[in-house]
Amino acid sequence: MSTKKTLTTQAGTPVNNYEDSQSVGERGPLLLQDYFLQEKLAHFNRERIPERVVHAKGSGAYGTFTVTHDITKYTRAKIFSEIGKQTKMFTRFSTVGGEKGSADAERDPRGFALKFYTEAGNWDLVGNNTPVFFIKDAKKFPDFIHTQKRDPYTNCKSATMVWDYWSLNPESLHQVLILMSDRGTPKTFRHMNGYGSHAFSMINADNERVYVKFHYKTMQGIENFTDAEATEMRGIDPDHAQRDLVKSIDEKNFPKYALKIQVMTLEEAKTFKWNPFDVTKVWSHNDYPLQDVGVIELNENPDNYFAHVEQSAFAPSNLVDGIGFSPDKMLQGRILSYADAHRYRIGVNFDALPVNKCPFMVNNYHRDGAMRSDGNGGSAPNYFPNSFDDIEVDDQAKGINYALESNLVGYFDGNENDNDHYTQPGDLFRIFTPEQKANTISNIVGAMSGIEGDKKDEIINRQLCHWFRANVELGMGVAKGLGVTIDPSLLRQ
Ligand code: HEM
Repeated sequence: MSTKKTLTTQAGTPVNNYEDSQSVGERGPLLLQDYFLQEKLAHFNRERIPERVVHAKGSGAYGTFTVTHDITKYTRAKIFSEIGKQTKMFTRFSTVGGEKGSADAERDPRGFALKFYTEAGNWDLVGNNTPVFFIKDAKKFPDFIHTQKRDPYTNCKSATMVWDYWSLNPESLHQVLILMSDRGTPKTFRHMNGYGSHAFSMINADNERVYVKFHYKTMQGIENFTDAEATEMRGIDPDHAQRDLVKSIDEKNFPKYALKIQVMTLEEAKTFKWNPFDVTKVWSHNDYPLQDVGVIELNENPDNYFAHVEQSAFAPSNLVDGIGFSPDKMLQGRILSYADAHRYRIGVNFDALPVNKCPFMVNNYHRDGAMRSDGNGGSAPNYFPNSFDDIEVDDQAKGINYALESNLVGYFDGNENDNDHYTQPGDLFRIFTPEQKANTISNIVGAMSGIEGDKKDEIINRQLCHWFRANVELGMGVAKGLGVTIDPSLLRQ
């Protein structure tokens, strides 16, 4: 039996000539009636959708999450209901500041976003490869990101903008230190950890709540490029991490990550040394040890990059019963931002696309909109309440009541203790090995050497003060590398 198929237009009508346009005579002008020529060129013109405003360059894979330890005392989320339970998931890795064609080996945080297709709805954990972030209030995000993108005049990346902003926002110091260490250039997506970063809530069957932080630890071991290796890789292969991911999954060398949690009770949250919901700070592993939960295995390459990876849409607002928000001001801002971005980038029906669609139940009365291609609810009622279907609200999904700590409305920048931006970066630098310290200082010096213009000295001095306040050895190392002389008597004050 022949397996040949006929080439057709999008409407399914057979096409007689795929490559030669219909013309008047051999050398004459073309005819409007060659509709397939129009369809082909017009479709091509519309192949691109807007790239993500951040995290534009990315790689994705499907996988499986398996529960290995019982955490039902903390959460009633069905995904964790029993040991051995498996849930299909999708992951997208990314760099943050570059455009869709930028190099995978850039010094940048890596996005590490997870979508679990749980029977209680899709749960998205939209994390990074660092446990902290540059800012702690969502209102700062557009300014911060502008400094990571291109200068409005030169249209080039600008070390001046970057360090001007960071030096004026010392809450960035912890994340900047991690970024400037070799963890800022992970060798591949397989060789780095992931973090949910924010505090989230977990709620158990008895309606008891705790705060948690999610960690997903690479089981391949952490491996980083040095700055020189990363620079070389950007030239050799700008897509090296994408290539590595596809190849290792094709070869059945499936990347694995161990999902773990830190747990903080509500009482502990009240007395924690810092604001426990400040995403620029970590919770000490000594005080809040990692608890094993399960294993993520990435075992399936999507068969089409655009359909699955480019059109994937992760949102911190996608939580399931048993997992909740915390008052983290960044997390709260992200609740709004992502679905809004998806409606712009992909369209209002982004959540009906196969990669985003909940494979279990989706029952509501949202209808119509551009590119509605999933049957649109058929002939079922499109309003609520009604006398015809049996869709009901779920009492359990009501969540639990909790008291707010204050009824004072205002714009709060944190108290003095919250604004201690130096202790944790200092602690981190102190536990670096001598080689890690030397590489970090060298990476900072390299990056700060790009600062230029009238404000150069002012910006360098301001940032140097932050390095010194975190750790004198760090400050001295950076100052020396930049050729700045420090009066030692100033350090004793
Ligand atoms: C992507 C906003 C903070 C991780 C995005 C996108 C937006 C955004 C608009 C593009 C979404 C899309 O087009 O699909 C924000 C805002 C933030 C914030 C307003 C602060 C308030 C963070 C933090 C993390 C993070 C703290 C990590 C802990 C990611 C990741 C992606 C992303 C991983 C890429 C998701 C994907 O692979 O599709 N963010 N973001 N963001 N963000 Fe954020």
